[in-house]
Amino acid sequence: MIREAQFNDINDINNLGECLNNNFSNTYNLDNYINDNKYILLIHEDKSIDAFLLIFKNIDNYEIEALAVKKEKRRQGIAHELLNYFYSTYLKKNDIILLEVASNNNDAINLYQSLGFTIVNIRKKYYKDIDALIMKKVI
Ligand SMILES: CC(C)(COP(=O)(O)OP(=O)(O)OC[C@H]1O[C@@H](n2cnc3c(N)ncnc32)[C@H](O)[C@@H]1OP(=O)(O)O)[C@@H](O)C(=O)NCCC(=O)NCCS
Repeated sequence: MIREAQFNDINDINNLGECLNNNFSNTYNLDNYINDNKYILLIHEDKSIDAFLLIFKNIDNYEIEALAVKKEKRRQGIAHELLNYFYSTYLKKNDIILLEVASNNNDAINLYQSLGFTIVNIRKKYYKDIDALIMKKVI
């Protein structure tokens, strides 16, 4: 089931977010996410969260801030399902989605390319020695 996150989901999201960043809870400060008209979508079975998607709404585009799927649930189409749900529920034609991804994160790059994102910029050595790719999709 896909639904929007609530305050009592924050611990579970922070735990899953550690696969992205071992200081995830301080970096993302999810209390503000939920208060500030941003978006956090979850996929879960029963009480356990399988994946989350964090989206920040800018004035003229949407930014994927974080996306993570539990290790044992990957390659089952969950990230595709979550992103497709986001577009179809919240976005309209010509809306723009941007994201930033490490150039060595092949799983994520393949995922985004298969969803129609293209690389529009490269930030050299953005993560210490690793470049960041900026990817974009127009709905
Ligand atoms: C990147 C990440 C979010 C992808 O999530 P996922 O749920 O595994 O992604 P999906 O299953 O929707 O799609 C991944 C691939 O699996 C394929 N796939 C989907 N269902 C499948 C199935 N039943 N069997 C095999 N492969 C399948 C998809 O076609 C896709 O392949 P493609 O990218 O070549 O098109 C996940 O690996 C992750 O959480 N990584 C760690 C955190 C991270 O790096 N996040 C992104 C930061 S920008």
